[in-house]
Amino acid sequence: MSEKKIWLSSPHMGGSEQKYISEAFDQNWIAPLGPNVNGFEKDLQTYLKEENIHVAALSSGTASLHLALILAGVERGDEVLCQSLTFAASANPIVYQGATPVFIDSEEETLNISPVFLEKAIQDRISKGKKPKALIAVHLYGMPYKVDEVHEVALRYGIPVIEDSAEALGSSYKGQKCGTFGDFAVLSFNGNKIITTSGGGALVTKSEELKRKAVFLATQARDEAPHYQHSHIGYNYRLSNIAAGIGRGQMEVLEEHVSKRREMNQFYEGLFGTVKGVKVFSEPENTYFSNHWLTVIKSEENGVFKTEDLRLFLENENIESRPLWKPMHLQPVFKDAPFYGNGVAESAFKNGLCLPSGSNLSQEEKKRISDAILNFLKTKML
Ligand SMILES: Cc1ncc(COP(=O)(O)O)c(C=O)c1O
Repeated sequence: MSEKKIWLSSPHMGGSEQKYISEAFDQNWIAPLGPNVNGFEKDLQTYLKEENIHVAALSSGTASLHLALILAGVERGDEVLCQSLTFAASANPIVYQGATPVFIDSEEETLNISPVFLEKAIQDRISKGKKPKALIAVHLYGMPYKVDEVHEVALRYGIPVIEDSAEALGSSYKGQKCGTFGDFAVLSFNGNKIITTSGGGALVTKSEELKRKAVFLATQARDEAPHYQHSHIGYNYRLSNIAAGIGRGQMEVLEEHVSKRREMNQFYEGLFGTVKGVKVFSEPENTYFSNHWLTVIKSEENGVFKTEDLRLFLENENIESRPLWKPMHLQPVFKDAPFYGNGVAESAFKNGLCLPSGSNLSQEEKKRISDAILNFLKTKML
């Protein structure tokens, strides 16, 4: 295997990140606060466009979810509804709070949380004596979940929504940006995301007061006093001013990254579009706009090929691809958590594959990918 590895999704610098980092060094803002942190928050706020949006830059998406749960009032013994088909980081903070996750299956169109099973779960939990305290809904791989339907159910039962938009910065639904729908929303700037700060995240709140509370908790919950006094348990969750500098540079190229990733989705549509029994996931309607963080294909059960065979074929060509997230209700660590569904997430995991989707893939790399896929299809006589 001599050729360079093609990654699923790798960091893509825009060019001006180092300028912001140099400024931080020049001004000695080498700390988890400073002009880049403030500037990055402002850039995100401007980008998200909606009024009354307040952004706290934090050390990770996971930390942001944890603080969202705290601010939503989740406590020991509570139950929190969560999409099952997602990365473990969506669910782990529920357990940090001593609460129990209740997992919900996906629907077929977007692979996100099923509004039908969501309502069934809420009714059943209420009948068992416990109304869920919050809901974590995820825009998986950048595809908006069924925002209207999901929020209508949550609103009807008075359950706050935490919108896990870690993979969906740049996506929108009915013209409104993902990251602005929930009572709280979470963004991630991990190395593999559409923009990165190497590691980082943000919590989006609907009031300045909630943002202030988030920053208070994220900076060790110091009471106002000249000495160190604490009336609450705090966390060390603020974003570093150096990392935020990378974020400011990345914001300048976010739109370009979105259109490049969307081109990758079209690229795979071109390769698999005519192959029977294989679906390239794309927007179900034009009210959805996905950043196509990762392009996902799904092969029919007993279809023309197994996606695992394609994964192994690509691996042999030094091209990374990956099965979809293994649903949380199938994870050993969550084996005792309740689950409501009928096998959609499980089938997506079994028959789905994420393909290289980076905004920085060169023409040459794209050619290698398409040659490999066409050769694979030939072995299946397609
Ligand atoms: C859906 C989802 N939620 C949460 C996270 C957590 O974000 P972070 O890695 O920044 O903690 C990630 C990504 O890593 C994710 O993909």
